[in-house]
Amino acid sequence: MTRIPHETSGEPNPLRALDLDRLRRRTSMKWRTHPEDVLPLWVAEMDVLLAEPVVRAVTEAMELGDTGYPVGTAYAEALAAFAGKRWDWDGLAVERTAIVPDVMLGVVEMLKLVTGYGDAVVVNTPVYPPFHDFVGHMDRRVAEAPLGADGRIDPDVLEATFRRVTAGRRRAAYLLCSPHNPTGTVHTADELSAVAALAERYGVRVVADEIHAPLVVGDARFVPYLSVPGGGRGLSLMSASKAWNLAGLKAALAVAGPEAAGDLARMPEEAGHGASHVGVLAHTAALREGTGWLDALLTGLDTNRRLLADLLAERLPAIRYRPGDATYLAWLDCRALGLGDDPAQTFLRHGRVALNSGLPFGTGGAGHVRLNLAASPEVLEEAVRRMADAVERAGGVRV
Ligand SMILES: Cc1ncc(COP(=O)(O)O)c(C=O)c1O
Repeated sequence: MTRIPHETSGEPNPLRALDLDRLRRRTSMKWRTHPEDVLPLWVAEMDVLLAEPVVRAVTEAMELGDTGYPVGTAYAEALAAFAGKRWDWDGLAVERTAIVPDVMLGVVEMLKLVTGYGDAVVVNTPVYPPFHDFVGHMDRRVAEAPLGADGRIDPDVLEATFRRVTAGRRRAAYLLCSPHNPTGTVHTADELSAVAALAERYGVRVVADEIHAPLVVGDARFVPYLSVPGGGRGLSLMSASKAWNLAGLKAALAVAGPEAAGDLARMPEEAGHGASHVGVLAHTAALREGTGWLDALLTGLDTNRRLLADLLAERLPAIRYRPGDATYLAWLDCRALGLGDDPAQTFLRHGRVALNSGLPFGTGGAGHVRLNLAASPEVLEEAVRRMADAVERAGGVRV
């Protein structure tokens, strides 16, 4: 946890730039869902000041009235260059990309391309709740292949699930979360190659949600699914939105491996219609010129991970926290607190701190909460203080 291999950029920590008074003026979901006395560390928005190149790109567009429709491949080119530098991957072909409004709508479109009504979509639980909801809403069935106790993909469980869902030659897809939300697990090249081999054996199509890819710290290395042997039949969704806090500026990219190009070409025109031109400008600027800012963010997040581990060890040692190597989300096992399946309710009611309940994350989520650590160290300290007070008031077990 103490290694910081990404470059130190000399930029200030963007997590320290805004105080609580300014953050409370925000009008987005994180800040307006709960009353003012609640400290929000839930939905994946970051308490950062944006990267300067992003602000410049958007401001220039406003000054020019450049607010029409998106055109061209600048976003995909910027992502391809970023992938080459950051992940040592030169296989992202601009002609095998398509702009989509955001990652989740892109996931839905990709799943529609490779599955039909009633087919199964395999997910590794616990996982980002919309993986369950969006798949359910599109008349596919979610099939859970829970992660192992170590938070990693269990190849035996995955194979058994693939075998079950493809019985009778049914089509199926595997919605891979890479890196994994909420555990922060970064899948290795070997693990992803094993996934690709299983997918090939059972004829399962892989759709990889790689939105957290730029947010990897430590010795771990992000490996694009499409880059591993056998990954060429896969489809991936990427975006600058999580790493640069641009969820409100809609734009993402669907990327096809060489053998999935024909599938992506079948994506209907309307699937790309909701992407915003200003969003495309912002995401492109982030990928092209925002890497110094990203490095400063990663350094700040690494500090926060260690701080959170220390604070919990001191104030709430009964909580189990294994810091992941990616994302800014901490997955906390609160089962030993004795607060039941939904400790987030206790933290909210008795501590006025908003965390995500683990329950909607599927099997493995009961008794857990997800904490968003993309905040200042002071906010993290206050959050843990409130959590400890809540446990005390509710009569839970702190040690
Ligand atoms: C794994 C994962 N996929 C998708 C999203 C949402 O992305 P978008 O807003 O681009 O749909 C999130 C947001 O936190 C996420 O964690």
